[in-house]
Amino acid sequence: MGILFDNTSKTFTLHTKCSTYQMKVDDYGFLLHLYYGRYTKGTLEYLLTYADRGFSGNPYDLHNDRTYSMDVLPQEFPCRGIGDFRSPAFAIRNEDGSFNCDLRYRSHTIYNGKYKLSGLPAVYAKEEEAQTLEIVLEDSVSKILVSLLYGVLPEYDIITRSVKVVNFGEQKIYLEKIQSACLDFVGKTFDLIHFYGRHAMERNYQRIQIEHGSYVIGSRRGTSSHQYNPFMILADRETTEDAGTCYAMSFVYSGGFKGEAEKDQYNQTRVQLGLQDELFSYPLLPSETFYAPEVVLTYSEEGLGKLSQNLHECYRNHLCRGVYKNKIRPILINSWEAAYFNFTGETIYELAKEAADVGIELLVMDDGWFGNREDDNSSLGDWQVNETKLGMSLNTLIQKINNLGLKFGIWVEPEMVSEDSELYRKHPEWALTIPNRKPVRGRNQLVLDFSRKEVVDAIYEQICNILDQGKIEYLKWDMNRSITDVYSTLATDQGKVLYDYMLGLYDFLERLNQRYPELLIEGCSGGGGRFDAGMLYYTPQIWCSDNTDAIDRIKIQYGTSFGYPVSMVGSHVSAVPNHQTKRSVPLFTRGVVAMAGTFGYELDLKALTKEEKEEIRQQIVQYHQFAPLIQNGLYYRLSNPFQEEIGAWQIVAKDQSEFLLSVVCLEIHGNMTTTYLRLKGLKKNQWYEEQSSKKIYPAQALMEVGLPIPVQLGEYQAYQWHFVMISETEIKD
Ligand code: GLA
Repeated sequence: MGILFDNTSKTFTLHTKCSTYQMKVDDYGFLLHLYYGRYTKGTLEYLLTYADRGFSGNPYDLHNDRTYSMDVLPQEFPCRGIGDFRSPAFAIRNEDGSFNCDLRYRSHTIYNGKYKLSGLPAVYAKEEEAQTLEIVLEDSVSKILVSLLYGVLPEYDIITRSVKVVNFGEQKIYLEKIQSACLDFVGKTFDLIHFYGRHAMERNYQRIQIEHGSYVIGSRRGTSSHQYNPFMILADRETTEDAGTCYAMSFVYSGGFKGEAEKDQYNQTRVQLGLQDELFSYPLLPSETFYAPEVVLTYSEEGLGKLSQNLHECYRNHLCRGVYKNKIRPILINSWEAAYFNFTGETIYELAKEAADVGIELLVMDDGWFGNREDDNSSLGDWQVNETKLGMSLNTLIQKINNLGLKFGIWVEPEMVSEDSELYRKHPEWALTIPNRKPVRGRNQLVLDFSRKEVVDAIYEQICNILDQGKIEYLKWDMNRSITDVYSTLATDQGKVLYDYMLGLYDFLERLNQRYPELLIEGCSGGGGRFDAGMLYYTPQIWCSDNTDAIDRIKIQYGTSFGYPVSMVGSHVSAVPNHQTKRSVPLFTRGVVAMAGTFGYELDLKALTKEEKEEIRQQIVQYHQFAPLIQNGLYYRLSNPFQEEIGAWQIVAKDQSEFLLSVVCLEIHGNMTTTYLRLKGLKKNQWYEEQSSKKIYPAQALMEVGLPIPVQLGEYQAYQWHFVMISETEIKD
């Protein structure tokens, strides 16, 4: 199986199909990192070197051995206070005010199955699919036990890491920093790839060389954020989409995070990912336990494309849960860009009627149905149906829509409160605000204190009351501002509030999932402001961006595809000129782009011509045909839309029997050159037939020279081609 312990050399080896990870307990009890990379046998202890290094301190028990320093040695979980001056993974503050910590090996266990994390999302697996290694380290002075948890899913080339801290002493200590995964590399230089952005333009691709100094990304916003995704790739300098070695680190957490990449004085690289340590100082009382959220690691020696596929497969099969895990999601229409706040029950019903007519399966009533919500200035926290505005009860509306053959879905934003709301007037102390200070407003709303159980319970009750009013089969869970005023009236230590807030949120979502197992929840935070593996444990899909412009979306979805499968990416066809960019893109192109996700619409169908509606009808028929492939196939990026004239991607059936090729022209010029698009993942020596033209192509040539993309005049034209593998006998006939 995946995990081995060699008692003679005291090495732990984690094997997956293509990778090996190794560490060692040395003579002094330090846990040193030896290796992570290409699958290999043997003990990699030879990689450690020792030399007398000036100004790099030596642990006391090494006596006068000046060649041993934690400042130089690669470590598994470096802590502050033992002479390592690089950025630590773990830092505490002791009761006496000192900051030091010294972790030494105490014991370990290996067992079948995958560890779980109390109250936190995590990758899951059956007994026979995974193994767990738990290494317990101890600081005998601070009296804490630090368990490093490793989950190994060999078939997926996935290793997960997490940390558990137990205070077994009699004094309170503070956790000042706790990264979930740290990777120390000797002898290699790397590029760092990460995904930055802003509201309505999330997850842009950035690749930089890791040089001397420290490069830090993260979020201080209390959410994973639009600005940086909690996901990093480490790649060899020469690694491309299709070749070379690379590593991914993905944080299964939706709050603040910190990712660091550092090249040290000896050209060694340290990369870390975990909780944001700013605004964090977590008190741990005697006998209390703290869990750090999980980081998912994967390794590929076949370039970035394979690295992404490893994560896609893991998230689809071992993170996503519930009845929709392997189910094609219903094609939805959302009322937001169709009507914003301006609707009644009757107009929603009209939209549903139009939707039913073209073949849409689910109507989502977005923001504006509750309290006195006529714009975004009031009523958050008052989750009571505004029957006056709707002109009917929620149940009546749902039934009317169900009678059309459509499912019904609704929008909520449970973590928020408007100052202009009954809830705030009754319970101002439930909002996160600081005594004697005016809070910072965001979208003119405040954030509820989800670190308090009674607040979570009260909102949970309100939301359940809505969900119980009729057959609600979909819930859009939104979160529309960053957290600024970190102060909970009940907390004795404010450094715990943001983490406890996340536990409150996860508890709410877990209870919803348990109580409504059939409910499809779509995550959202001003579009993709909380698009992370933590949310995907509770919500099988997330609205990818508030930007529905198909051309911008190609870039946003390109960035998103590095870490997350298309089956989890909410993507809709919207009106033109687009509401965010005023750009006009053909309806066909908008459909092609939205089909690289959980497909839907977000426009006023009544405003369309007969021809456009007919085109949508056809689009929906097409989508049904391709949906199983989109949901389950392997995703290949064929171009980089940040650099190339076309956006192109391919989804290939796992058995390689068919594939869907999508191409969008991003630029048009006079006398265009022909792009030959080299395809990927096809079965060698086979033939593929393009279904509309019935032209037959040899796989080898499609992958070697490529498919010529015909030049069409006019901006933003698209192609969507479906190819099916055919046998040689069929060709001869
Ligand atoms: C956020 C979401 C939108 C929409 C609005 C409603 O911006 O991302 O899709 O639901 O809120 O207020």
